[in-house]
Amino acid sequence: MSSIPHPFHIPLSRRKLLQSLLLTTGGIITSGVYAEALTLTPRATEGPYYPDHLPLDQDNDLTMALGGKAPARGVVTEFGGRLLNADGKPIENGVIELWQSDNNGCYIHSRGTQQGKERDPNFQGYGKVETNAKGEYRFRTILPGLYTGRTLHYHIRVKQNEKSMLTTQLFIAGVPQNDRDGILRSMGTEEQRLSVIREFKPMSSDSKELAATWDIVIGHTPEEPEQRGRGPGGPGGPPPRRRDSAEVSEQDLRDLILGPSPF
Ligand SMILES: [Fe+2]
Repeated sequence: MSSIPHPFHIPLSRRKLLQSLLLTTGGIITSGVYAEALTLTPRATEGPYYPDHLPLDQDNDLTMALGGKAPARGVVTEFGGRLLNADGKPIENGVIELWQSDNNGCYIHSRGTQQGKERDPNFQGYGKVETNAKGEYRFRTILPGLYTGRTLHYHIRVKQNEKSMLTTQLFIAGVPQNDRDGILRSMGTEEQRLSVIREFKPMSSDSKELAATWDIVIGHTPEEPEQRGRGPGGPGGPPPRRRDSAEVSEQDLRDLILGPSPF
Protein backbone atom coordinates (compact mmCIF):
# COMPACT_ATOMS: atom_id res chain seq x y z
CA MET A 1 0.00 0.00 0.00
CA SER A 2 1.29 3.44 -0.84
CA SER A 3 2.33 5.77 1.97
CA ILE A 4 0.51 8.66 0.27
CA PRO A 5 -2.44 9.61 2.47
CA HIS A 6 -5.72 8.38 1.09
CA PRO A 7 -8.23 11.18 0.36
CA PHE A 8 -10.55 9.59 2.92
CA HIS A 9 -8.29 11.02 5.64
CA ILE A 10 -9.46 14.53 4.80
CA PRO A 11 -13.14 14.18 5.66
CA LEU A 12 -12.23 12.03 8.66
CA SER A 13 -10.03 14.73 10.15
CA ARG A 14 -12.72 17.35 9.48
CA ARG A 15 -15.15 15.11 11.26
CA LYS A 16 -12.84 14.84 14.26
CA LEU A 17 -12.44 18.60 14.29
CA LEU A 18 -16.20 19.01 14.27
CA GLN A 19 -16.61 16.44 17.03
CA SER A 20 -14.07 18.21 19.23
CA LEU A 21 -15.78 21.53 18.54
CA LEU A 22 -19.11 20.01 19.53
CA LEU A 23 -17.59 18.69 22.76
CA THR A 24 -16.08 22.02 23.72
CA THR A 25 -19.19 24.03 22.84
CA GLY A 26 -21.84 21.71 24.22
CA GLY A 27 -23.18 21.03 20.74
CA ILE A 28 -23.77 24.60 19.73
CA ILE A 29 -21.17 26.30 17.60
CA THR A 30 -21.76 30.02 17.52
CA SER A 31 -18.92 31.16 15.33
CA GLY A 32 -16.89 29.99 12.37
CA VAL A 33 -17.85 28.28 9.16
CA TYR A 34 -20.61 26.14 10.70
CA ALA A 35 -22.42 29.03 12.35
CA GLU A 36 -25.10 29.59 9.73
CA ALA A 37 -26.21 25.98 9.54
CA LEU A 38 -26.29 25.59 13.29
CA THR A 39 -27.91 28.79 14.47
CA LEU A 40 -30.72 27.61 16.71
CA THR A 41 -34.09 28.89 15.52
CA PRO A 42 -35.26 31.31 18.24
CA ARG A 43 -38.47 30.80 20.19
CA ALA A 44 -41.45 33.14 20.03
CA THR A 45 -44.78 33.32 21.80
CA GLU A 46 -47.56 31.22 20.29
CA GLY A 47 -49.80 34.30 20.56
CA PRO A 48 -53.52 34.26 21.34
CA TYR A 49 -54.78 32.69 18.11
CA TYR A 50 -53.63 29.08 17.96
CA PRO A 51 -56.84 27.59 16.53
CA ASP A 52 -59.38 26.78 19.24
CA HIS A 53 -61.20 24.64 16.67
CA LEU A 54 -59.05 22.82 14.16
CA PRO A 55 -60.23 22.53 10.55
CA LEU A 56 -61.07 19.10 9.13
CA ASP A 57 -58.56 19.71 6.38
CA GLN A 58 -55.11 19.90 7.97
CA ASP A 59 -52.76 19.20 5.08
CA ASN A 60 -49.81 21.35 4.05
CA ASP A 61 -51.65 23.16 1.24
CA LEU A 62 -53.57 25.92 2.99
CA THR A 63 -54.68 27.59 -0.23
CA MET A 64 -57.43 25.03 -0.77
CA ALA A 65 -59.75 24.13 2.10
CA LEU A 66 -61.79 20.94 2.03
CA GLY A 67 -65.26 21.87 0.78
CA GLY A 68 -64.02 25.31 -0.26
CA LYS A 69 -65.61 26.70 -3.41
CA ALA A 70 -62.57 28.59 -4.69
CA PRO A 71 -58.89 29.07 -3.89
CA ALA A 72 -58.11 31.25 -0.88
CA ARG A 73 -57.73 34.97 -1.53
CA GLY A 74 -54.24 36.41 -1.27
CA VAL A 75 -50.72 36.17 -2.63
CA VAL A 76 -49.75 32.50 -2.93
CA THR A 77 -46.48 31.59 -1.23
CA GLU A 78 -44.51 28.42 -0.67
CA PHE A 79 -41.84 27.88 1.91
CA GLY A 80 -39.92 24.86 3.05
CA GLY A 81 -36.54 23.51 3.99
CA ARG A 82 -35.09 21.06 6.45
CA LEU A 83 -35.72 20.35 10.11
CA LEU A 84 -32.33 19.88 11.79
CA ASN A 85 -31.09 19.23 15.29
CA ALA A 86 -28.36 21.32 16.90
CA ASP A 87 -25.70 19.01 15.43
CA GLY A 88 -27.00 19.68 11.92
CA LYS A 89 -28.58 16.25 11.51
CA PRO A 90 -31.93 16.00 9.69
CA ILE A 91 -34.90 15.07 11.85
CA GLU A 92 -37.28 12.56 10.28
CA ASN A 93 -40.95 12.30 11.30
CA GLY A 94 -40.96 15.69 12.97
CA VAL A 95 -44.36 17.39 12.76
CA ILE A 96 -44.40 21.02 11.69
CA GLU A 97 -47.60 22.99 12.28
CA LEU A 98 -48.41 26.29 10.58
CA TRP A 99 -51.19 28.67 11.59
CA GLN A 100 -51.66 32.18 10.28
CA SER A 101 -54.12 34.92 9.45
CA ASP A 102 -55.94 34.98 6.13
CA ASN A 103 -55.82 37.79 3.60
CA ASN A 104 -58.07 39.86 5.91
CA GLY A 105 -55.92 39.33 9.00
CA CYS A 106 -58.40 36.81 10.46
CA TYR A 107 -57.45 33.59 12.27
CA ILE A 108 -59.30 30.31 12.82
CA HIS A 109 -60.15 31.24 16.38
CA SER A 110 -63.38 32.26 18.06
CA ARG A 111 -61.80 35.67 18.85
CA GLY A 112 -59.61 35.79 15.77
CA THR A 113 -61.80 37.77 13.38
CA GLN A 114 -60.70 41.29 12.64
CA GLN A 115 -63.18 44.07 13.29
CA GLY A 116 -65.42 44.66 10.30
CA LYS A 117 -63.90 41.71 8.42
CA GLU A 118 -64.96 38.18 7.66
CA ARG A 119 -62.76 35.15 7.63
CA ASP A 120 -62.09 33.77 4.16
CA PRO A 121 -63.93 30.40 4.21
CA ASN A 122 -61.69 29.09 1.44
CA PHE A 123 -58.51 29.56 3.44
CA GLN A 124 -57.47 26.60 5.57
CA GLY A 125 -55.77 28.75 8.25
CA TYR A 126 -53.92 25.80 9.80
CA GLY A 127 -51.92 22.92 8.37
CA LYS A 128 -49.25 20.45 9.29
CA VAL A 129 -46.68 18.26 7.61
CA GLU A 130 -44.33 15.47 8.66
CA THR A 131 -40.67 15.71 7.72
CA ASN A 132 -39.23 13.02 5.44
CA ALA A 133 -36.00 11.03 5.89
CA LYS A 134 -33.97 14.08 4.85
CA GLY A 135 -35.80 16.24 7.37
CA GLU A 136 -37.56 18.11 4.57
CA TYR A 137 -40.92 19.85 4.82
CA ARG A 138 -42.90 22.26 2.66
CA PHE A 139 -46.03 24.41 2.87
CA ARG A 140 -48.14 26.05 0.20
CA THR A 141 -50.10 28.97 1.59
CA ILE A 142 -50.66 32.73 1.20
CA LEU A 143 -49.02 35.82 2.62
CA PRO A 144 -50.57 36.45 6.02
CA GLY A 145 -52.81 39.50 6.30
CA LEU A 146 -51.27 42.64 7.78
CA TYR A 147 -52.93 44.13 10.83
CA THR A 148 -52.19 46.88 13.31
CA GLY A 149 -49.51 46.14 15.86
CA ARG A 150 -47.74 43.33 14.00
CA THR A 151 -45.67 42.77 10.92
CA LEU A 152 -46.46 39.93 8.51
CA HIS A 153 -45.78 36.63 10.27
CA TYR A 154 -46.38 32.91 10.15
CA HIS A 155 -46.79 30.92 13.37
CA ILE A 156 -44.88 27.66 13.50
CA ARG A 157 -44.70 24.80 16.00
CA VAL A 158 -42.39 21.80 15.79
CA LYS A 159 -43.35 18.57 17.53
CA GLN A 160 -41.39 15.38 17.97
CA ASN A 161 -43.11 12.30 19.41
CA GLU A 162 -46.10 14.47 20.42
CA LYS A 163 -43.83 16.78 22.44
CA SER A 164 -43.61 20.43 21.50
CA MET A 165 -39.96 21.20 20.74
CA LEU A 166 -40.22 24.74 19.40
CA THR A 167 -42.81 27.46 18.92
CA THR A 168 -41.64 30.27 16.69
CA GLN A 169 -42.62 32.75 14.00
CA LEU A 170 -41.39 33.24 10.43
CA PHE A 171 -41.03 36.68 8.84
CA ILE A 172 -40.66 38.07 5.33
CA ALA A 173 -37.62 40.16 4.38
CA GLY A 174 -38.36 43.63 3.10
CA VAL A 175 -41.53 44.28 5.09
CA PRO A 176 -40.97 47.70 6.73
CA GLN A 177 -42.99 46.71 9.82
CA ASN A 178 -40.32 44.12 10.69
CA ASP A 179 -38.19 46.92 12.18
CA ARG A 180 -40.91 47.85 14.67
CA ASP A 181 -42.31 44.43 15.53
CA GLY A 182 -41.97 43.89 19.29
CA ILE A 183 -42.14 40.10 19.06
CA LEU A 184 -39.52 39.85 16.32
CA ARG A 185 -37.22 42.26 18.17
CA SER A 186 -37.43 40.15 21.32
CA MET A 187 -36.44 36.88 19.61
CA GLY A 188 -32.94 35.70 20.56
CA THR A 189 -29.74 37.14 19.17
CA GLU A 190 -29.39 39.21 16.01
CA GLU A 191 -28.08 36.15 14.19
CA GLN A 192 -31.13 34.17 15.34
CA ARG A 193 -33.49 36.97 14.27
CA LEU A 194 -31.92 37.05 10.82
CA SER A 195 -32.48 33.29 10.58
CA VAL A 196 -36.27 33.74 10.82
CA ILE A 197 -36.50 36.61 8.29
CA ARG A 198 -36.50 34.94 4.90
CA GLU A 199 -36.50 36.31 1.37
CA PHE A 200 -39.62 35.42 -0.57
CA LYS A 201 -38.93 35.62 -4.30
CA PRO A 202 -41.11 35.05 -7.37
CA MET A 203 -41.10 31.36 -8.28
CA SER A 204 -40.27 32.33 -11.87
CA SER A 205 -39.88 35.58 -13.79
CA ASP A 206 -43.56 35.66 -14.79
CA SER A 207 -44.98 34.12 -11.60
CA LYS A 208 -47.09 35.97 -9.07
CA GLU A 209 -46.35 33.29 -6.49
CA LEU A 210 -43.52 33.76 -3.99
CA ALA A 211 -41.21 31.11 -2.54
CA ALA A 212 -38.66 30.95 0.26
CA THR A 213 -36.43 28.39 1.91
CA TRP A 214 -36.17 28.10 5.67
CA ASP A 215 -34.25 25.52 7.67
CA ILE A 216 -35.48 25.09 11.24
CA VAL A 217 -32.85 24.15 13.81
CA ILE A 218 -34.09 22.86 17.14
CA GLY A 219 -32.40 22.02 20.44
CA HIS A 220 -32.84 18.71 22.24
CA THR A 221 -35.11 19.81 25.06
CA PRO A 222 -38.91 19.87 24.77
CA GLU A 223 -40.35 23.27 25.61
CA GLU A 224 -42.59 23.99 28.56
CA PRO A 225 -46.22 24.32 27.51
CA GLU A 226 -47.15 27.98 27.23
CA GLN A 227 -49.98 28.90 29.56
CA ARG A 228 -52.80 29.69 27.22
CA GLY A 229 -55.38 32.27 28.17
CA ARG A 230 -52.91 34.56 29.96
CA GLY A 231 -51.73 36.41 26.91
CA PRO A 232 -53.50 39.37 25.30
CA GLY A 233 -57.19 38.68 25.02
CA GLY A 234 -57.20 35.68 27.32
CA PRO A 235 -59.03 35.46 30.64
CA GLY A 236 -57.06 37.41 33.20
CA GLY A 237 -54.90 38.95 30.53
CA PRO A 238 -55.03 42.41 28.99
CA PRO A 239 -57.74 43.05 26.40
CA PRO A 240 -56.88 42.16 22.84
CA ARG A 241 -55.14 44.87 20.90
CA ARG A 242 -57.59 46.53 18.57
CA ARG A 243 -57.01 45.26 15.09
CA ASP A 244 -57.76 48.06 12.69
CA SER A 245 -58.77 47.34 9.17
CA ALA A 246 -55.54 47.21 7.24
CA GLU A 247 -56.50 47.74 3.65
CA VAL A 248 -53.43 46.50 1.86
CA SER A 249 -53.86 45.32 -1.69
CA GLU A 250 -52.05 42.30 -3.05
CA GLN A 251 -50.00 44.60 -5.25
CA ASP A 252 -49.05 46.74 -2.23
CA LEU A 253 -47.92 43.62 -0.42
CA ARG A 254 -45.86 42.46 -3.37
CA ASP A 255 -44.26 45.90 -3.61
CA LEU A 256 -43.49 45.82 0.10
CA ILE A 257 -41.78 42.47 -0.13
CA LEU A 258 -39.97 42.82 -3.44
CA GLY A 259 -38.84 46.40 -2.83
CA PRO A 260 -35.46 47.22 -1.28
CA SER A 261 -34.90 45.17 1.83
CA PRO A 262 -33.67 46.86 5.02
CA PHE A 263 -31.82 43.62 5.88
FE1 LIG B 1 -50.23 36.21 14.91
